[in-house]
Order: sequence, then C-alpha cells, then structure tokens
Amino acid sequence: MSASVATDVRPGDDVGLIAPGAAICPAGTLADRGLGVRFTLELAGEVVPAFAVRFHGRVRGYLNRCAHIPIELDYRPGDFFDLSGNYLVCATHGAYYAPDSGRCLGGPCPGRSLAALQLIERDGMVYLADEPMSFD
Ligand code: FES
Repeated sequence: MSASVATDVRPGDDVGLIAPGAAICPAGTLADRGLGVRFTLELAGEVVPAFAVRFHGRVRGYLNRCAHIPIELDYRPGDFFDLSGNYLVCATHGAYYAPDSGRCLGGPCPGRSLAALQLIERDGMVYLADEPMSFD
C-alpha cells in the first residue's frame, strides 16, 4: 500500500491516519491562527486524534486531547483557536492553551499541557516527524 500525499487539503479537514515522516497537508492550508487540520496517528498501538495549526508563522501540532478530560478540543472540525486567535481553547469547559507550548493557562487544568507533536515544514508541505513524540 502506498501513501498518497494530500495536496487538496482544506482547513478543518481530517486527513486520516498519518505515519511518522509522512505529509499531513500543504503548508498553505494552515493560515496563521486559522482553522487547523485534523489527523490521526498510531501511538502505542492505539489510533489517536491530533491536529496541526499555525501560530506566529510556525506550524504546531498536538494530540487532540484536552488535559482536563481526554476528549477532543475543537467544537467544530479544525476550530481550535479562541476568538482572539491568541489561544487554543477546549470547547467543553473552556480550558485555554498557549498555541506555542500547549501549556494550559486557564480553565480547569492550569499548568498541565497538551501533548506536543513534532511537525516539520519543508518544501511547501507539513510533515509529521519520524519520531513525532518523545517520552521522558
Ligand atoms: S474537557 Fe477540556 S476543559 Fe474540560
């Protein structure tokens, strides 16, 4: 089975299972503080939801799993930022997170963090890193 590189991804799309090192979407799909792109990855034998967004020009990726209760954050697909565009927000109880670190700054889980993924922007595409997460 060969993986195809998704070139027609729109903001808010879910591009499905992404293998380590594979392309997630064209870089241009992710506008600064705009809708993200959803995807899944396999982690310890489990398929888990994740997302990519752009903030201050840099692509950021996190598991789509709130630090309060492990459920997805977006209230509609790909909508991760609050109205100000300064924070990622969980639609369920309003936890808000720093987009560049994933650290919860307010709401029911201050001090906890989203699980960060390593994404790479190269040659006009966004890729999941070969080793997307590190466990310390
Ligand atoms: S589940 Fe996200 S703030 Fe409660």
